Amino acid sequence: REALGAREPADAVRVQGWVRSVRSQKEVLFLHINDGSSLESLQVVADPSLEKDLTFGSAVEVQGKLVKSPHRMQNMELQAETIRVVGPCDIWSFPLKMKERHPLEYVRQFPHLRCRNNTLGALLRIRSQATAGIHSFFQDNGYVHIHTPIITSNDCEGAGELFQIEMSSEAKESAEKTHFFNVPAFLTVSGQLHLEVMAGAFTHVFTFGPTFRAENSQSRRHLAEFYMVEAELSFTESLQDIMQVMEDLFKTVTSTVLSKCPHDVELFHKYIAPAQKVMHVTGNNCNPVVISYGEAVEILKQAPQTFTFKPEWGCDLQTEHEKYLVKHCGEVPVFVVNYPYDLKPFYMRDNEDGPQHTVAAVDLLVPGVGELCGGSLREERLPFLESRLQRLGLTDAYQWYLDLRKFGSVPHGGFGMGFERYLQYILGVDNIKDVIPFPRFSHSCLL
Ligand code: 4AD
Ligand code: MG
Repeated sequence: REALGAREPADAVRVQGWVRSVRSQKEVLFLHINDGSSLESLQVVADPSLEKDLTFGSAVEVQGKLVKSPHRMQNMELQAETIRVVGPCDIWSFPLKMKERHPLEYVRQFPHLRCRNNTLGALLRIRSQATAGIHSFFQDNGYVHIHTPIITSNDCEGAGELFQIEMSSEAKESAEKTHFFNVPAFLTVSGQLHLEVMAGAFTHVFTFGPTFRAENSQSRRHLAEFYMVEAELSFTESLQDIMQVMEDLFKTVTSTVLSKCPHDVELFHKYIAPAQKVMHVTGNNCNPVVISYGEAVEILKQAPQTFTFKPEWGCDLQTEHEKYLVKHCGEVPVFVVNYPYDLKPFYMRDNEDGPQHTVAAVDLLVPGVGELCGGSLREERLPFLESRLQRLGLTDAYQWYLDLRKFGSVPHGGFGMGFERYLQYILGVDNIKDVIPFPRFSHSCLL
């Protein structure tokens, strides 16, 4: 990348990378070398006598002179003096082919090789910058980063989509206890409850880590292992505050990504996503709409189309419903607030309204993807929480959570954003398996 961006010619330059193209003419040999630092490859001009073993995909080290390129397409090129093939590549059995735009489904079969493909390369650079952007956003706004645990004994969402952790059978044989931790343990489905603990000492906290759900769905927006960004804010009494953070996070990180990797993003918008899908993402002037769950159900009931799942107050919004709502609002992000009490987990704050009893929950729905974020105000009032946990038979398990309401409890709330869905949305990628380096989903755990 340094060589590509150089302004001045230089002698004795050494570059290392992988050959992206080889073109041999009578008098010159043209190579393109890529080292993963950018989408663009460095052109190398060499004497054809240096061609031995130089194939697409091979790893090389080139020494030579960096000179101004006579071609319009690039700034600099490298005039090779020596080329060393560090690792040859057999093009006949190598699944990636030179100059071919392989479909994403095709390269998905080769999780060990697909990072050498332009699209996945671009995605991984974007993913890396977006990760840094998320950390910067929170750090710049006074949030403390917390490493919430991956192994946990709670089921935050109460949806039963848990992976339980067990010792391997060999380890079990030599151990005395059935449970390694004495209690059943699971992979986390959300760091929220641990963030709530921290929100008792820090007014703003966040976590960003792997999250696991045993969702038996082959959908294009669910993974068994995904990354979730979660924030928790103390001294917060309105959902509006939570929605504002979601929106600011989204806009800030997206502009970071656009400014750090414009060419990588352009590749997606040009070749992967239908253009119209991503237009509104890139414009910072896009303003989300806010509707209540009740309004959403009314909109769905009046829809001219018939749904597979009939919209009814008290039922979960299905993908088809989310899609319709987003379309109805003009293909912009839509916040849906105040969901039925019985539909949501125990920790959400009771709105004490009626007769359609709701909680202060918020979901952010976006075009093409559906639910991107989920959040709520948390029930900070001890009696409300006690009676809800009692009804669910969870009082003993959540004594510690009740404690938080006894010792300096404050109104608080937060949300989680699915990182892969975020990438899907800004890049217009249809399948979630194409925005994570090693996708895990039911019936598949390659590598
Ligand atoms: O809506 P969810 O379940 O919310 C929570 O877990 C809250 N405890 C978060 C919080 O308030 N701190 O999950 C949050 C987001 C979803 O909106 C979705 O984007 C993503 O996580 N998500 C998934 N992404 C990929 N694969 C899955 N199986 C996902 N499940 C949820
Ligand atoms: Mg949700």
